[in-house]
Order: sequence, then structure tokens, then C-alpha cells
Amino acid sequence: MAMKRVAVSVFQALSSSGGVSSTLTRHLHGSGGSKKIVGVFYKANEYAKLNPNFVGCVEGALHIRDWLESQGHHYIVTDDKEGPESELEKHIPDLEVLITTPFHPAYVTAERIQRAKNLKLVLTAGIGSDHVDLNAAAAAGLTVAEVTGSNVVSVAEDELMRILILVRNFLPGYHQVISGDWNVAGIAYRAYDLEGKTVGTVGAGRIGRLLLQRLKPFNCNLLYHDRIRIDPEFEKETGAKFEEDLDAMLPKCDVVVINTPLTDKTRGLFDKERIAKCKRGVLFVNNARGAIMDTQAVVDACSSGHIAGYSGDVWYPQPAPKDHPWRYMPNQAMTPHISGTTIDAQLRYAAGVKDMLDRYFKGQDFPAQNYIVKEGELASQYR
Ligand SMILES: NC(=O)c1ccc[n+]([C@@H]2O[C@H](COP(=O)([O-])OP(=O)(O)OC[C@H]3O[C@@H](n4cnc5c(N)ncnc54)[C@H](O)[C@@H]3O)[C@@H](O)[C@H]2O)c1
Repeated sequence: MAMKRVAVSVFQALSSSGGVSSTLTRHLHGSGGSKKIVGVFYKANEYAKLNPNFVGCVEGALHIRDWLESQGHHYIVTDDKEGPESELEKHIPDLEVLITTPFHPAYVTAERIQRAKNLKLVLTAGIGSDHVDLNAAAAAGLTVAEVTGSNVVSVAEDELMRILILVRNFLPGYHQVISGDWNVAGIAYRAYDLEGKTVGTVGAGRIGRLLLQRLKPFNCNLLYHDRIRIDPEFEKETGAKFEEDLDAMLPKCDVVVINTPLTDKTRGLFDKERIAKCKRGVLFVNNARGAIMDTQAVVDACSSGHIAGYSGDVWYPQPAPKDHPWRYMPNQAMTPHISGTTIDAQLRYAAGVKDMLDRYFKGQDFPAQNYIVKEGELASQYR
């Protein structure tokens, strides 16, 4: 850690003095000429041709292939991202731009960064760049950017759906129908209205705020915890109350929704002790990142009934292995990572990636809110 900080400050000092050594200039915008750009996305196989707007998969390749190749760039797209024999590994030594997506993340480790001598730019097709070792990226002078805002509506809508699925105890009823059963009592004994319940969001940035707006008509008690208080107008509009102390908010909540990025401060934030601070019977929705939760603590709390329902679409690692314990714990309503990759979201993040590439080729800056690592500095919430 100390070494990394030294590297960053050396980098900053060299940058400002204009005497930047070649290894520390990787953040600078690309010079002209043909570039090797690698995209890592999920594969769609038989689904690829079912929708012409399905751009977020390997086959769709963000619909930027013709545009890139017409400018002489070399664009390789794959879903094969793990292990020394993978397609991604073959290109690590000479790729200049890596585009990947949280739905099928290429894990950009410090070791990969070290070997990727030509890498300058890592773009996230979506939001959340925790699959990149951001400190290592900063120390190496890489630029990391994402398409901020691209899928926030998609995620907020999905969270609202998950809250309702858990509160109404929807899934057991669905499974009864599929398996030919009919047992109203088996669902009704723990099905509730959302009205009057207390919902707290941990993180009230773009997604958290959209969720609070969408929850307002349900007449819940709305709480939020964030490192920054929202402006009073928004609090008035939604009726959401600020809770400076997370541990003071949790015992009040019937539903807790996680909406922070995965950072050094939020990794494992919900461990055994913190989950124990929640009400018995609490419902959790987590579309933020799996590693914000302690995996085993969630399993134990779902098994004991302390957590009465857990729903989300984020796991660690992804794809989740067949033996991931969240697949088998009781009272879960999990899906693969899907909420932010609706067709609408894909079109928005594909356009955002194309815009950043275009700016990169022209030596122009990106929209300020897109930067996660720039010139050796991490965005403030990742520090
Ligand atoms: N499941 C999906 O498909 C999907 C899609 C998009 C985003 N996400 C996840 O959701 C996260 C949030 O997205 P967003 O667009 O709302 O981001 P955002 O940057 O607009 O909001 C994040 C909020 O979290 C707060 N925060 C950060 N660290 C905190 C801490 N330690 N304690 C309290 N609050 C803290 C910030 O102050 C900010 O208000 C992303 O970083 C990503 O991990 C998931």
C-alpha cells in the first residue's frame, strides 16, 4: 500500500514537472495509429440473433466493430477471461484498450496490469469498476472510466421489483404453481404489504435516489445512509430521512437495500456483527456488489431466519460457481447479474463506450463523472 502511494506521488510529481518516464505515461491519451482493443463480454449463443439491439454480448460487441475497423483499429471480442490459456491472456501483453463489463467481469489484477505494458485505458461497459485493481491501475498511470448513469434506472426498477417479491413472499407461490401444488397458507403466513414498512438504502447516489423516488408512492418510511447528505429539496420530495450512523439505521429497517460501490470501505461491510444489528426477519436487496456482504454471514443469517429474504443479482466471483452457497441458502431470490443489462441499458452503455473511445482517439477528456482513475488519482468515493 505504502509502495503504491509512493508510486502515485512520484507519478504526480513527474507529470507536473513534465518529465514523465515511459512507464508512467500510460494515462495519456493514445497517439494516432492502429490500436489493439479487447472487449470482454458475456456470450449470447442462441440468443444473439433474437434481438437486433442485443449489443452487450460477445456477438453484439457493442456494435462498434465496423466503426473501429474502418479507422484501422484491431478489435478482439471474447468471453474467455480466466486462466493462463484464456483468449484475454493472449492479448494482455499488447492490448492498448480493454473494455469489460460488470456482468462478465475481466478481473484486471495488479499482476495483469504489470504484464499489460501497452495498456492505457480500461473502460467499463456499465457502472462499477471494482473488477479492476484500482490502486494498481492508478500506480501504473492507467485511466479507468465507466459509463456513469447508463443503467441506474434499470437497477432501481429491478430493486423495487425485488423488494416487492420478498415482501409479498412471491417466489414460493410461483414454485407451487410450477410443481402442481396449491397451498395458500404456505405463502400467506409471511406475506405482507409494503405500505407502512421501513425501507433503508445504504448509499443514496444515482441508483439509491431513483429507488427512493420510486418507493415514495408506496407510503413507506424511507431512510438513507450515505457518506454525503442529499440536498434538502430531495429529502422533502421523497420524505427520506438521513441516518448518519449506519448502525443506528439498521435496527429500524424492515428492508435494507445496498446501493454503494464496492470499495476498501464497503468490502465485507455486512459481516456477522452488522447483520446482527438488523431486525430479526429483515429483508435484504443487494444489486450493488456481492463482496459488500460476508458470504457465509448471509448464508448463516438466512438459515437462522434472522434474514427472512435475500435478493440480488451480484455475486463474487462472477459467473458464480455451481457450489456458491447463495444458490442453496433458504429464502433467497437471487438471479445472475442482470439488472443493469436490459436492452435499454445496453444501448446506453454501448453509446457511452463509443463516445469515450472517440474522445480517446481525438485526445479529448471524458465527461468528468465517468472517471474512476485519472492521472494516478482514484475517484473520491474509492479513496
Ligand atoms: N447490478 C447491476 O447491474 C448494477 C448496475 C449499476 C451499478 N451497480 C452498482 O451500484 C453501485 C452504485 O451505483 P450508482 O450509480 O448509484 O453510484 P453513485 O456513485 O451515483 O452512488 C454511490 C453512492 O454511494 C455512496 N457511498 C460510497 N461509499 C460509501 C460508504 N463507504 N458509506 C456510505 N455511502 C457510500 C456515495 O456517496 C454515493 O452517494 C455501483 O458502484 C455498482 O457497484 C450495479
